[in-house]
Amino acid sequence: MGNGKLLEISKFAAPEIIFGFGATSQTGEGVLRLGARKVFVVTDDELLKIGWVEQVLKHLEDVGLDYEVWSNITSNPKDYEVIEGTDLYVKSECDAIVAVGGGSAIDAAKAIAVLATNGGNLKDFEGVNKITKPLPPMVMVPSTGGSGSEVSQFAIIVDSARKIKMTIISKSLIPDIAVIDPHLLYTKDSRLTASTGVDALCHAIESYVSLAATPLTEVHSLYAIQLISDNLRESVACRSNLEAKKSMAMASLQAGLAFSNAILGAAHAMTHQVDGLLDSHHGETNSILLPHVMEYNLIACAERYAKVSEALGVRIEGMSRWKAAEKSIRWVRRLFQDIGTPEKLSEIGLDESVIPQLAENALKDSCLVTNPRDAEKEDLIKLYTKAL
Ligand SMILES: [Fe+2]
Repeated sequence: MGNGKLLEISKFAAPEIIFGFGATSQTGEGVLRLGARKVFVVTDDELLKIGWVEQVLKHLEDVGLDYEVWSNITSNPKDYEVIEGTDLYVKSECDAIVAVGGGSAIDAAKAIAVLATNGGNLKDFEGVNKITKPLPPMVMVPSTGGSGSEVSQFAIIVDSARKIKMTIISKSLIPDIAVIDPHLLYTKDSRLTASTGVDALCHAIESYVSLAATPLTEVHSLYAIQLISDNLRESVACRSNLEAKKSMAMASLQAGLAFSNAILGAAHAMTHQVDGLLDSHHGETNSILLPHVMEYNLIACAERYAKVSEALGVRIEGMSRWKAAEKSIRWVRRLFQDIGTPEKLSEIGLDESVIPQLAENALKDSCLVTNPRDAEKEDLIKLYTKAL
């Protein structure tokens, strides 16, 4: 056991979850049950193009709900996009939010919910528990297997002036219903499948070794690690592999439940800063940083990493605890090589000169608080430099 058992109180918060092929058809009934009259639908242009959103809209129409569609968001959603969405939400007199899309659409939807009911600037809500007024009903329909935002108490929005990602954490951000239909995962190409899968693995591993892990979160972390180890390669390799897509959707959900309650660690604290600066793929940045952070954390929680190895499917019988723990890092590196995610920060355009600033910003990220090994600015500089 890690430090989680030292906490006397274990809490676990999650939305209602509807999971399975065809689950999307229950969206309308779900929103209606929450008392909505007019729904603000947040999505992205790509999903609009391929007709998925139309299907969700039809399910809203079927139960007599009116709606307004807004899709003006980019990946790594920006504060000014959220402000635009909030204006339209208020103007169109909506009273509930449905997001159809990846983590970006879902996070933008949550941020719109915050501004529409709490007013002020997004910056006011950065950090933990800053939201004071109740949010409108939220139903999330994720299209990627990774972000876990559909079940989490997190919203990550880019502060365009400071060029950093703001992490907003509050139980108010947990959606009312998560509708997870693995069909939607077919819409993603292999690069996005790989990077969102890596993100889910990073959620699972970081939440498992987190200082805030509890028995209520550990089971979800370990199951997610196992599912990802068994299915991510196949899911990247073949768009129509039903079994792999379903397993990755379940893995993303399990990892989301774990990290929403156990929070994350240094890999995410560091990744957020890189993404904020370069607008990089969140999962790809994680794939570069996670193995280095695992090496750094090893002396804090070798026992836990040995368990991670086991969940990954590594044979650890007869091995020392330390050897078994080290195997998890090698295994993760091999997985990332197999699916072709980048291995160096320089590959995604990072320049060495910005590292001190990134380290400074990462120190302030809420995710660093639960990292199992303490990290000072110098440690983070070393980690960024190693990953360069
Ligand atoms: Fe993430």
